[in-house]
Amino acid sequence: MHKGFTLWFTGLSGAGKSTVSGIIEQRLRELGARVELLDGDVVRTHLSKGLGYSKEDRDTNIRRIGFVCELLSRNGVIAIAAAISPYRAIRDEIRARVPNFVEVYVQCPLEVLVERDVKGLYKKALAGEIAHFTGVSDPYEPPVAPEVTLDSSSETPAQSADRIWATLEHLGLISFDRSALAHA
Ligand code: ADX
Repeated sequence: MHKGFTLWFTGLSGAGKSTVSGIIEQRLRELGARVELLDGDVVRTHLSKGLGYSKEDRDTNIRRIGFVCELLSRNGVIAIAAAISPYRAIRDEIRARVPNFVEVYVQCPLEVLVERDVKGLYKKALAGEIAHFTGVSDPYEPPVAPEVTLDSSSETPAQSADRIWATLEHLGLISFDRSALAHA
């Protein structure tokens, strides 16, 4: 019912990567898919514990997540990654290694993120209390040709998840009878 693939979310902190990836993960699980979610915040408490936010440390973090995604994908598992992953070259490096790499760019205007400020980090970053904060005082390089682009300021998480789902079906990576989910 599904192939092994990697669904790679990229975007600024607070844009909605964790929320939308969590919805997709849950839907897939309910349908019996083999799926693992690697969330940046969680990975940084285990696999990448001790790493900071320099370019070097972020690259190491992303390469580690990419490595795990590669292992899972090539064994028929669906790997979902949700980390800022700000550097295009590293994402493209992973794309080149992972079979069936699907990139999801979670877009959101900075002013909306600052307004939401779910974790209170933008306020601190803008006040100069956090150095090298992505989108404020550190770079973010958007994907040039992502498979899916979402805008969390103009669509709901469920709508975003629906669009990703449709893309995965279109790419032939999943094929589920949706009525199974509706009646679950
Ligand atoms: S990444 O750049 O290496 O991909 P990752 O997604 O793992 O980042 O972690 C980002 C999370 O770390 C943010 O959502 C935020 O909660 C926290 N964080 C702490 N400091 C920073 C910073 N300087 N820049 C971005 N995020 C930060």
